[in-house]
Amino acid sequence: MGFVIAVDGPAASGKGTIAQQLARAYGLPCLDSGLLYRAVGVTLQRAGGDLDDAAQAEAAARAFDAGALDDDALRTRAAGEAASRVAVHPGVRRALRDFQMRFAEQEPGAVIDGRDIGTVIAPGAPAKLFVTASPEVRAERRWLQLTAKGEAASYDDILADIRLRDARDSGRADSPLAAAIDAVLLDTTEMSISQAADAARRIIETARARWEKSLKG
Ligand code: C5P
Repeated sequence: MGFVIAVDGPAASGKGTIAQQLARAYGLPCLDSGLLYRAVGVTLQRAGGDLDDAAQAEAAARAFDAGALDDDALRTRAAGEAASRVAVHPGVRRALRDFQMRFAEQEPGAVIDGRDIGTVIAPGAPAKLFVTASPEVRAERRWLQLTAKGEAASYDDILADIRLRDARDSGRADSPLAAAIDAVLLDTTEMSISQAADAARRIIETARARWEKSLKG
């Protein structure tokens, strides 16, 4: 495995921005794995399917095509909600696993952000971060993002969404949202995004030095 950076954490924790900045800094390709679940949810919804039906959702995930990722409709609040509903089905998770694992196997490495990257997709990743922030701060960040894109949404509704998504992503024994034991926890509640990115960079530099040393044996 190359230099894989797994960036996990709950909705709107800042992990996407951090992952993109790390990818730029290390010259690695970056995958936002949430987009895969969003694409499955939105595609199924457009086809008139039922997001809560495990068989329908799994069939949509098996038909997943990476070409579907370049769609602004995947970045809306509704798409996030649809993603979180299809993501609870184990068959959907299995169907999307290979695509993500192949992405992680690229040389010279990759950055992937999501929920279960450090635990399931790339458990051997040499660098793992688990990014968190309080639900209130995450709701405020998401509200700013959505309003900047012209999507009208109230702060209270977004906070309710975030709490619901956290519960869905972490309420079951097989829930994806759990920090790997070797992940470094980064709580960004009191940080600006640039402070969070700097802190992430320092953590990953330490992991990179350790990884390079291990390669030299
Ligand atoms: O990260 P993002 O908000 O785009 O993720 C949307 C939803 O997709 C999450 O709430 C989660 O339910 C699901 N997801 C997941 N595993 C991932 C990435 C996203 O279950 N690796």
